[in-house]
Amino acid sequence: MKLFETYDLNGLPLKNRIVMAPMTRSRADNAEHVATPLIAEYYSQRASAGLIISEGTHISPMGIGSINIPDIYSKEQIEGWKIVTDAVHQKGGKIFAQLWHVGRISHPDLLNGLLPLAPSAINPNFKAFLKKGFVDTVTPKAMSSAEIKSTIKDFVKAAQNAFEANFDGVELHAANGYLFHQFFAKCANDRTDEYGGSIENRARLLFDVLDELKKVVDLKKVGVRLSPSMDHTFGINVDEETIPTFEYIVKNLNDYNLAYLHLSGFTLAEETNPMNRVIETAKHFRKLYEGTLMINKGFDKETAEKAIEDNVADLISFGELFIANPDLVERFIGTLPMNKADRNTYYGIGPIGYTDYPLYQMKV
Ligand SMILES: Cc1cc2nc3c(=O)[nH]c(=O)nc-3n(C[C@H](O)[C@H](O)[C@H](O)COP(=O)(O)O)c2cc1C
Repeated sequence: MKLFETYDLNGLPLKNRIVMAPMTRSRADNAEHVATPLIAEYYSQRASAGLIISEGTHISPMGIGSINIPDIYSKEQIEGWKIVTDAVHQKGGKIFAQLWHVGRISHPDLLNGLLPLAPSAINPNFKAFLKKGFVDTVTPKAMSSAEIKSTIKDFVKAAQNAFEANFDGVELHAANGYLFHQFFAKCANDRTDEYGGSIENRARLLFDVLDELKKVVDLKKVGVRLSPSMDHTFGINVDEETIPTFEYIVKNLNDYNLAYLHLSGFTLAEETNPMNRVIETAKHFRKLYEGTLMINKGFDKETAEKAIEDNVADLISFGELFIANPDLVERFIGTLPMNKADRNTYYGIGPIGYTDYPLYQMKV
């Protein structure tokens, strides 16, 4: 099967085309937000994936939007991640860090009392996850030019930190309604400076970050995640400029010779054939993007193989299947039954529902 073939990710050899999608698991239960040996164990259990993309890791204290996330802005955090990357590499795996700034999907309780930063002072009317549980988001602070500049620097520093921690690459999290996506979307961005108004202006932050990144890191090791079809969630609403905006972004990413473009799938709860939307979106952007395309959401072995066979994408990322099946690749290869994931333990503390999903046991 094509899914099990090796793949050249712009110079990085992958042993198959099966990618573990980025997934927040909230296990860094320490005040310093440092990745722990338990987190290293979790990722190393999944090292037979062609590529692992880490959970979103906050690039700065002002980028925080959730508790217990292993972050990537301090020296201690770099050291913590080294244990993770080392464990994955020892098992022959490859791992990228997903660089995350949540923008307005946060709360002052997570930010030392400060208002979350966002393109504009528009409340997403969503929820943030605190120690006491989910709370309503607030109206954020519109970022000043100086705050935009320092956020760009924070992304660059975080990428450098990730390479210092021996990640094989980084993925810019520009999907799912977080900071970059807030700049892209008119419903979240009513700025009148060079970061608001036209499509080009709303896309600018992403390209500013890439332009600064390319001065210090090899963009062949940088991926970008977008969610062009996301609607009515995370404070994001589709409008008449959404598709042209993402078309502009995707076409312009061609100039950067990136590791990949990763489309985060989105489907509506009531959709009768959710795969249709994922595939149609992928086909649309495949025509515009010349590099490696990774796609996501709801895939199993058969639908993933078909998407690659049909040349809709080069790589497929799997989320929930990897939570419950550390040996997902081996299960795909052997057409073995899958463990079922328990949603109650997706986020939490400790090994339960994290590192205790069993490998497939052959019956003899
Ligand atoms: C528990 C959980 C945490 C997630 N955290 C992230 C995240 O940190 N960054 C991100 O881009 N997507 C995140 N996602 C979305 C996944 O990457 C993926 O898009 C989603 O699970 C759909 O793929 P699947 O159908 O293969 O599970 C998360 C999903 C789950 C289930």
